[in-house]
Amino acid sequence: MTFEQWTRSVLERVETALENYLPAETTEPAKLHEAMRYAVLGGGKRVRPLLCHAAGELTGARVECLDAAAAALEMIHVYSLVHDDMPCMDDDALRRGKPTVHVKYDEATALLVGDALQSQAFVALTSDVLGAQQQASLVRELALASGSIGMCGGQAIDLASVGHTLTRPQLETMHRMKTGALLRAAVRMGALAGETPDAQALASLDAYAAAVGLAFQVVDDILDVTTDSATLGKTAGKDAKDGKPTYVSIIGLDASRALAAQLRSDAHAALAPFGARAQRLAELADLVVNRVS
Ligand code: IPE
Ligand code: IPE
Ligand code: MG
Ligand code: MG
Ligand code: MG
Repeated sequence: MTFEQWTRSVLERVETALENYLPAETTEPAKLHEAMRYAVLGGGKRVRPLLCHAAGELTGARVECLDAAAAALEMIHVYSLVHDDMPCMDDDALRRGKPTVHVKYDEATALLVGDALQSQAFVALTSDVLGAQQQASLVRELALASGSIGMCGGQAIDLASVGHTLTRPQLETMHRMKTGALLRAAVRMGALAGETPDAQALASLDAYAAAVGLAFQVVDDILDVTTDSATLGKTAGKDAKDGKPTYVSIIGLDASRALAAQLRSDAHAALAPFGARAQRLAELADLVVNRVS
């Protein structure tokens, strides 16, 4: 199977899983459920679900288990995007080529969409395709990655840093928390959904995920200045306009590109112990760094 064929088949599975794990549009309150489905379905690159499936294939996870974990990861991610776009945060009107949730609906709905997606993620993760022990460990991974020592904490630092110059270590910490943590969880959760990897294998996967997670936000910072809104599906040039500390603003475009390339090769190096079995993860590291949107 080529990487494109593999990606297509996983994306189809993920779309179906999300369809099934989200409440129907007709379920009351219908407006909230419609808005949740508007935010989640039919868009986005689904990088976290892809990482989860690739890591799970490496540890022999059942695909239904990976569907549940991937749906949970994507729901948390979309919740973070819906809130990130609200006027109290980045105040963005465009996401995945469509009006943001608070623009299409209203602010209260956007707040509730995020809240409800967060809860629904844990409903998916505790579905009985997963054993009780697995459910507990995956819930913990996802909760830690998305809370105040992960995504939310990173978002808090991001907002508090507007207009300030961060040192490079401070910037790295912010990026690892706001974006890296959930990507790292995607890899760990996929792996944990299969045969529990030994400590060394988990450490290798973790090193891979840490590199890919940071690379992802470095590239996001680059694309904000190099790509147009139509290609991105979100407002380009927003970071500079808002005075956000980014890799581009702190080390410049060329050094940011060099860092992304370095992180890609770090990710590849971390996969060495797995040989050809880690091919999909290696290809995903390339996708994260070479993407154009
Ligand atoms: C955007 O994430 C926000 C960041 C964490 C940088 P993605 O680039 O994964 O957004 P979608 O899911 O493809 O829309
Ligand atoms: C968002 O970072 C990270 C999260 C949503 C957790 P950004 O604010 O850079 O994401 P975009 O560029 O709006 O997608
Ligand atoms: Mg933001
Ligand atoms: Mg934003
Ligand atoms: Mg950005």
